[in-house]
Amino acid sequence: MLTVRAPATSANLGSGFDVFGVALGAPADIVRVSRAPETTITVTGTGSEYIPEDPKKNTVGAVAEALDAPAHIEIDKGVRPSSGLGSSAASAAGAAVALNELYDRGLSRKELVPIAAEGEAIVSGTAHADNVAPSLLGGFVIVTDDGITQVDASLPVVVCLPEITVSTCDARGVVPEQARLGDVVDTVGHAATLSVGMTRNDPELVGRGMADEIVTPERSVLIDGYDAVREAALESGATGVTVSGAGPAILAVCRTESDRGAVAGAMLDAFDAVGIESRAYQTAI
Ligand code: HSE
Repeated sequence: MLTVRAPATSANLGSGFDVFGVALGAPADIVRVSRAPETTITVTGTGSEYIPEDPKKNTVGAVAEALDAPAHIEIDKGVRPSSGLGSSAASAAGAAVALNELYDRGLSRKELVPIAAEGEAIVSGTAHADNVAPSLLGGFVIVTDDGITQVDASLPVVVCLPEITVSTCDARGVVPEQARLGDVVDTVGHAATLSVGMTRNDPELVGRGMADEIVTPERSVLIDGYDAVREAALESGATGVTVSGAGPAILAVCRTESDRGAVAGAMLDAFDAVGIESRAYQTAI
């Protein structure tokens, strides 16, 4: 048996819709694989009751098929489904790494990205590599049609996950088809600032670069309490706050590791004030 830990991820980071993604230190899925004549899947852990074990309907079944690597695959979910933290991507990435090794396929992490993305498409409908790529490669990842660029960024963050779900379909449905040129210009500026910030591990630049006037304002209304939680995190020392992926998780970048406790506490209290239970991960990119 071979065991792999596959990290949660946060996509978009505000200004980088469908382009930016980061790997998070926590939470994570654990994927265990052993050779078998045909693929079978068992799922345990958080939200496992919502995840099909049929290989044709599960993200890791498609990965096993693409690698021609039948196996018994055990997924211990640490990343809650429908969290905005790349739950299906973590399982797909973990299975891709584990099966590649189990069957000595010799593919690089980068070569596994399209395979894991196809697996994720089973669940999400489209193959967005902005979650599988950082889960496989770590750090900060820029995904475009031309390829993938990875940077070994390291920054303290807090991820606050409320006990609500936002359907990815709804979250994509509110994304505007068009944007004003002025907003596009601002967003390009923010995305460029954020990218430079990642290369310097600079929380001020990354926080400032997370601003986005196109997608995030539309999506944030799907998360009860978002404005209050964002404000509370900023007042407690976060440099930038945005919706993680399609939500409902909210990501806050912190100046130092020791700031994370106050930011996490403020975010939990703000959700509590609107009657929503939540949990906070004090972690890092
Ligand atoms: N970029 C995608 C979105 C990620 O925000 O819809 C989904 O996890």
